[in-house]
Amino acid sequence: MRILGIETSCDDTAMAVIEGGDLGEPPCRIIAQEVASQTMAHAPYGGVVPEIASREHIGRIGSLAQSVVQAAGGWEQLDGVAATRGPGLLGALLVGLQFGKSIALARGLPWVGVHHLEGHLCASWLVPEPPKPPYVALLASGGHTHLYGVQSFGNYRLLGQTRDDAAGEAFDKVAKLMGLGYPGGAPMERAAQGGDTAAFALPRALWGRQDLDFSYSGLKTAAAQLAGALDFNDADMKRNFAASVQEAIVAPMVRKAIAAALSLGSPGIVLAGGVAANGRLREAMAEACAAEGLWSFAPPRPLCTDNAAMIAAAGYGHLARGERSAWSEGAVSRWPLGDEA
Ligand code: KG4
Ligand code: ZN
Repeated sequence: MRILGIETSCDDTAMAVIEGGDLGEPPCRIIAQEVASQTMAHAPYGGVVPEIASREHIGRIGSLAQSVVQAAGGWEQLDGVAATRGPGLLGALLVGLQFGKSIALARGLPWVGVHHLEGHLCASWLVPEPPKPPYVALLASGGHTHLYGVQSFGNYRLLGQTRDDAAGEAFDKVAKLMGLGYPGGAPMERAAQGGDTAAFALPRALWGRQDLDFSYSGLKTAAAQLAGALDFNDADMKRNFAASVQEAIVAPMVRKAIAAALSLGSPGIVLAGGVAANGRLREAMAEACAAEGLWSFAPPRPLCTDNAAMIAAAGYGHLARGERSAWSEGAVSRWPLGDEA
């Protein structure tokens, strides 16, 4: 089965064609994919402007579809269409969703609306040897820091989540304080290279608690107070501060993910979401898992941040099982996943 995937939930217009077998099981192969980033359009505002995002999607989506579908061998090759239905920016979601429905209608193809977070979880389907459930998934992005117990495709138990800011949001907010630009996760990781993770004392909220929740708003406040007295033109200071912040964001995620796996008796941990591209998180999680006799898996970095191949993979899972979305189905800005729903 070849599925066209469309992702427009935030500030990336992404399109991909993937191929999987008939059973809706991983692995899947990426036939063609492109991501048109809007970073430059939003950069002057220091964050994503919803109205600009919608307009940029509209301006790009047609030519992106032409180019990706052509690279995949043409429209006749497609067996289904999947588009992100939510959660995300409503206006941005509507562009991809309506575009996907239109293609499906015009070509007589089945279509399905996909949960963006299920898409992130299915990024792990896009490698030759995907991890097999059951496992614990840590899904960390710009809007989410969630721990799930994944039993099978479509069966997600919410174990814990952030009570305030998401991990990616914490990276973005502190990076902004440091003048590193937006989005701030990747530049923060670069700035932290070679830095001393213990140079600055930053809070690790909910550290000693039994629950599997996170909190990053205190870290942001503490970082802002410290940053006021720091000179980021001093290379050592900048490096050490970035490394300390990164560690304070990463350490609680590793600790709680391990606690979740041990309490559920899960054999391994899968990383997902944009923050899973972070080298320190990948490394620290791999080390902690090895120490506990657990396996760990992280998708290739470009598949961690928003992309359409992951949406196509989740769509393939649904379509191959005979699931279809109604033509009347609209976009949803808030949409819990799994048992939380
Ligand atoms: O999943 P994603 O691409 O979009 C959302 O669904 O939110 O995640 C974006 C988030 C941003 O907050 C960004 O700063 C963060 O992922 N991110 C990173 C890295 N690359 C992206 N955070 C830390 N280190 C990175 N290398
Ligand atoms: Zn995302």
